[in-house]
Amino acid sequence: MSTIKEKIEKLKHAKNAVILAHYYQEEDIQDIADYVGDSLGLSQIAAKTEADIIVFAGVHFMAETAKILNPNKKVLLPDLKAGCSLAESIPADEFLKFKTKYPEHKVVTYINCSAEIKALSDIVCTSSNAEKIVQSFPKDQPLIFAPDRNLGTYINQITGRNMLLWDGACVVHEAFSIEKLLKLHVEYPKAKIIAHPESEMHIIKTADYVGSTAGMINYVKAHPKESFIVATEAGILYKMQQEVPETELIPAPAKEDNTCACSECAYMKVNTLQKLHDCLLDEIPEINIPEQIRIKALAPIERMLNLS
Ligand code: 13P
Ligand code: SF4
Repeated sequence: MSTIKEKIEKLKHAKNAVILAHYYQEEDIQDIADYVGDSLGLSQIAAKTEADIIVFAGVHFMAETAKILNPNKKVLLPDLKAGCSLAESIPADEFLKFKTKYPEHKVVTYINCSAEIKALSDIVCTSSNAEKIVQSFPKDQPLIFAPDRNLGTYINQITGRNMLLWDGACVVHEAFSIEKLLKLHVEYPKAKIIAHPESEMHIIKTADYVGSTAGMINYVKAHPKESFIVATEAGILYKMQQEVPETELIPAPAKEDNTCACSECAYMKVNTLQKLHDCLLDEIPEINIPEQIRIKALAPIERMLNLS
């Protein structure tokens, strides 16, 4: 009898499907994926894949981005409940009202938002290119940055800008405890702290490196002799450890005590290998976007991809 992984492989080849997975997915899903990456890397792959079906093992806004780029392909998400607290923080009608108050401002949106919000944006960014995208505007161009207030605050700080920020946040990165992190650093004084820019400023200030999930992995690979306290979702530790098997990696602690002593994204973790298999077999749940929204959302994504 074949295993679930063998069944997924068979279905994938029979249907000319590709499996894209984010670093926060469970280990089995990362193992079976054709590509594992950060939001930018996965959207770049989605933009050029020749597969007929894209199975997006990630969250809804990621699958939506793949669909915006590939209107004629079938895009599947193993579980439609794979949402994101950042995307949920920004209803399109409220954002439209907000944006209308600032007609002089251009809108930069973090990719962690819905297609409707992207359709109201001038350009999209991810955590790996946010600084570059923001700096592509003249210094005197007023900007709105949405929906992540933490990433926006960080980019304001490193660029000296004063972008207006939407008040959204990632529940996973806001779960880190600065007190516990500083205590942990006393236990591991030689460890370097690396943090995702969705983290709060007091966490970012402690970090030796701040960057996207792919950026963090590259940084660790470049310094294999060091040890690291890793302030992002714990799923990243799997691929990171494979890249640097000898390096000590310590997850940053969450405010609430929990079994992993880390921070995990409940949205990312609703996907399972079984659901991935079932969605490839039945070709549901499928992502669909009204064409007039897709067209408007495509332009700011393409602007980002052209600059990346
Ligand atoms: P990146 O992988 O692009 O750094 O994004 C992290 C994240 O929170 C995705 O939801
Ligand atoms: Fe959204 Fe945060 Fe989960 Fe990423 S880790 S999907 S930003 S809730």
